[in-house]
Amino acid sequence: MAMLGYGELLVAFLLFVLIHYWRLNRHAPTNWPVLGMLPGLLLNVSTVFDYITTILKHNGGNFMFQGPWLSNMNMFLTSDPMNVQHVTSTKFGNYSKGDEFREIFEALGDGIFRSEFQMWKYNRSITHSIFKKVGFQSFIHKTIKNKTESCLLPFLDHAWIQGTEVDLQEAFQRLSFDVICSTVLGFDPTSLSIDLPEVACEKAFTELLEGFFYRHVVPKCLWKLQKWLQLGKEKKMKESQEILDQMLYTEGISRCKMQGQSSGNSTPEEEPPFSLLDILISEEGKEKIDDKFLRDTALNLLAAGRDTISAGLTWFFWLVATHPSVESNILEEIREKLPAREGNGKDFGVEWLSKLTYLHAAISESLRLYPPVPLEHTCALKSDMLPTGHWINANTIVMYSLYSMGRREEIWGEDCLKFRPERWISKSGGIIHMPSHKFIAFNAGPRSCLGKEISFIEMKMIAANILWNYRIHLVEGQAISPRVSVVLHMKHGLKVTVTKRSI
Ligand code: HEM
Repeated sequence: MAMLGYGELLVAFLLFVLIHYWRLNRHAPTNWPVLGMLPGLLLNVSTVFDYITTILKHNGGNFMFQGPWLSNMNMFLTSDPMNVQHVTSTKFGNYSKGDEFREIFEALGDGIFRSEFQMWKYNRSITHSIFKKVGFQSFIHKTIKNKTESCLLPFLDHAWIQGTEVDLQEAFQRLSFDVICSTVLGFDPTSLSIDLPEVACEKAFTELLEGFFYRHVVPKCLWKLQKWLQLGKEKKMKESQEILDQMLYTEGISRCKMQGQSSGNSTPEEEPPFSLLDILISEEGKEKIDDKFLRDTALNLLAAGRDTISAGLTWFFWLVATHPSVESNILEEIREKLPAREGNGKDFGVEWLSKLTYLHAAISESLRLYPPVPLEHTCALKSDMLPTGHWINANTIVMYSLYSMGRREEIWGEDCLKFRPERWISKSGGIIHMPSHKFIAFNAGPRSCLGKEISFIEMKMIAANILWNYRIHLVEGQAISPRVSVVLHMKHGLKVTVTKRSI
């Protein structure tokens, strides 16, 4: 009897120790011998962005993730703005994308995303100088307006007349692909039209991006073997790259070079071509400029400008559809501030969009909660001390979670999980400026997004046009959650029906 009592006591004591240990560590993954914290990560991979957010929230915004022994997967996770400012700006020179990144994104060649040091500087200065040209900006604005009015609105009109359900995410993917191809290559693949045609280059682009993600989640030796044997995803990636290269070289580079040749014969009334490739070729001279450089520059910009915009718009429309008061405020603002056109129309010209402060705030708020790029990583070249006192060894990856930063009480206050555009509006009615290491959706420091302004114009023009012309009804019963990928898409798209608004 006495022995049983001791046994029970021992079990109770062990249970107490276990429960205490679990309570202390429930917000940190268990660090197993050999496997490190990988089992916890794998168990939570389907909700990985929230998993990382919870870990960071309960560990003061910083956490050292231990990978399996000898796997080189240890990484420092952070959502602390001081640390983010440090790695993106203050000590920018000590952090690079690293060899792993370059291998995964090999297909992007030496374009802006994949390049480092001098090559990156060169790419950035060229892209930046073209983005600043008035002619290029007005070409982009015209393209966005034209594609919205001549493709997106007819597509939604058709869905309304037919009473069919549409996947807004797919429509935005196609629209942003057409816009970015038109502005960069001067070639419109017309992938958004009523019958949703299968467009080989658009499909190939999706396959290539999925391949990049696949390389993030399977062991390197496996995808390398698949690449060598040309199997599965790796085979598809190679085929997709060939299709895209065909489009880039034929419809983009060769066409622009040919057009450049004949533009000497064009009459003065004809508009000069203003796509990014046209400008690059005319400035550098078509004999001098290398086709591979043009290909890499163009492909990197396509990668920058399609999925980010479409993911941003999809989450925005879901948030607005679930917050009717925000929708009413946006409509009120359009009614008040934009000049009327015949009928119930409004002039959504770019020159008017800057008046839409509340819409700007609502888009910022949506990008805060659902940043299209949810995670960023950078690799320390030399050992370094972070502002929070954490020591980072050379070659350690620092991963900062843009998704978690948008949900940090210390930055956004207790209601950080609420969609509240008003938080962006100052007492005098303007937009409150948030430094980029706090509002991180467009990254911070020298590698911050070059397309931020274009993105706001594109998103505002599309959002204002749709909301003014249609009521969006979410299809009931659909599950809304992020897809685990390099871009924060919705896992199952966003299914809606639309009705024409009579305002
Ligand atoms: C809502 C839309 C967008 C978001 C949230 C966004 C976000 C970002 C982020 C987080 C980065 C840093 C990526 C990295 O270095 O790993 C980036 C870089 C970049 N973005 Fe955007 N982006 C958007 C749209 C665009 C568009 C439309 C364009 C061009 C037309 C563009 C052009 C670029 C370029 C060129 C870079 C590379 C900057 C560099 O490495 O120096 N982005 N963007």
